[in-house]
Amino acid sequence: MKPCTVVLLFLVLVIYLLTHFYHFYFAIRCYISNLKFKMSSSDDSVVSMFDAILLKDLDVGQYGISISKDDSSSYLRPDEGLILRPLSTKDFQKGLVDVLNQLTRAGDVTEESYQDRFACMKKVGDYYPLVVEDTEADSGRGRIVATGTMIVEQKFIHSCATRGRVEEVVVDKAYRGRKLGCLILAVVTALSKKLGCYKTTLECTVENIDFYQKFGYVEDAEKFMQCRFRD
Ligand SMILES: CC(C)(COP(=O)(O)OP(=O)(O)OC[C@H]1O[C@@H](n2cnc3c(N)ncnc32)[C@H](O)[C@@H]1OP(=O)(O)O)[C@@H](O)C(=O)NCCC(=O)NCCS
Repeated sequence: MKPCTVVLLFLVLVIYLLTHFYHFYFAIRCYISNLKFKMSSSDDSVVSMFDAILLKDLDVGQYGISISKDDSSSYLRPDEGLILRPLSTKDFQKGLVDVLNQLTRAGDVTEESYQDRFACMKKVGDYYPLVVEDTEADSGRGRIVATGTMIVEQKFIHSCATRGRVEEVVVDKAYRGRKLGCLILAVVTALSKKLGCYKTTLECTVENIDFYQKFGYVEDAEKFMQCRFRD
């Protein structure tokens, strides 16, 4: 092959790489994120509250969550280093309680009481707590930065229907405004629909009504009442 042909081929390759740089960059980033996601869910000592497969291919686009056309579950990796997944036995160590304390007084939760409660919830099988983990935080040990739970309530009414209840939605202060609240709400709502709930409800403060309305929640004429026995 003549040297000028080699130079020409080289130039064509360089131009090709430059014009496709973004695609390569994006593909490599997706690959690394996928790898981290698989590694975080393949540790045998970690138990998830529910099967992560339920979070795949949810119709979250209807709630304004963008989905890559190459990957219908791209919302499970909302940003660099961030992954959305079911709550696991390791999340006490990753600061779940610190995040919950930003919503309400979480009280005295030890590692032992966390594991006991986790086991009870898993046994019942109707709890779907989600977390967003920043896998790069705390020198790569990972930290929980957002959470939200969907609970499926079994009914006799409506032909033995199930109803979804959204609870404990909170995003760590340092991560607010990055659409993680939207993501959690979109995923719990779409999940309750996928699981066949006839409706999904939540209780919220007046300041958060606008936030929830974005996901199709409407104010009901019914009033929320409670009989509180302790804090
Ligand atoms: C409410 C909360 C979950 C929102 O999380 P977030 O990640 O900061 O919200 P996002 O970045 O996803 O916000 C998405 C949109 O909702 C809006 N929004 C955020 N919080 C809102 C609120 N309290 N009321 C109305 N709109 C709100 C944002 O302005 C944004 O609007 P845009 O899409 O037009 O830009 C978060 O502020 C939080 O954890 N608050 C403390 C705990 C709490 O109140 N939880 C709800 C219990 S009822």
